[in-house]
Amino acid sequence: MSDKLYHECHDVISQGKAILEDLQQWGFESIIPLPDEKTASIAVHPQQDAVTSHNSGTLIELEARLSGCSLCPLSDQRKNIVFGAGKPQARLVLVGEAPGHEEDETGVPFVGEAGKLLEKILIAMHLSREEVYICNVIKCHPPGNRDPHPDEIAVCEQFLQQQLALIQPELIITLGRFATQTLLKTTEPIGKLRGQWFEYEGIPLMPTFHPAYLLRNPAGKKPVWHDMQQVMQRLSQK
Ligand code: URA
Repeated sequence: MSDKLYHECHDVISQGKAILEDLQQWGFESIIPLPDEKTASIAVHPQQDAVTSHNSGTLIELEARLSGCSLCPLSDQRKNIVFGAGKPQARLVLVGEAPGHEEDETGVPFVGEAGKLLEKILIAMHLSREEVYICNVIKCHPPGNRDPHPDEIAVCEQFLQQQLALIQPELIITLGRFATQTLLKTTEPIGKLRGQWFEYEGIPLMPTFHPAYLLRNPAGKKPVWHDMQQVMQRLSQK
């Protein structure tokens, strides 16, 4: 074997090993490919495949109403309002906390490191960003990635409420403390809330850890995967 081939094989094996170690952290015990039909049935509701102009129009109108918002001081420093992204008729909405630096630069939610991890989670759920809807409680970047202040949440949460009313998803996942506490109107810690079904306006809601928390605490991946399996199960039942 040539040196070049030896090094290429070594790299492939190392990458494979890293992927398997990562999967193990999520609690995977074996890898079973999902048949194509099942993947499709989890991902998309047949009737909801087409985007109706009514719903997308109203989300667009809501986004337009938000443009130039100066309801709180975050508007002074933001580069972009990060409204939300994804499918207007998504069956599943994921709600994060607030845009980070990359999101402020691009105007798109979850595009930084936490976003990359979220995308991995979605792929493991046989979903893509395009078929879900992703947004945040707060639409502008808090400087230095600080926690959102209660008065910022108080003025901004109306936009999240309107987004959810327009989309009317079948399920909601709240990522982390702020999204969970805001939608459930509770002060219980996320560690106590995650992994259980709640309801927001009649919509089943599953709280789980925020991907940014998982970047700092990989041990949280296993419980998150457990929570996501519950979500997949509900989606496949509907
Ligand atoms: N963290 C969030 O909560 N939302 C984003 O959009 C990015 C990082």
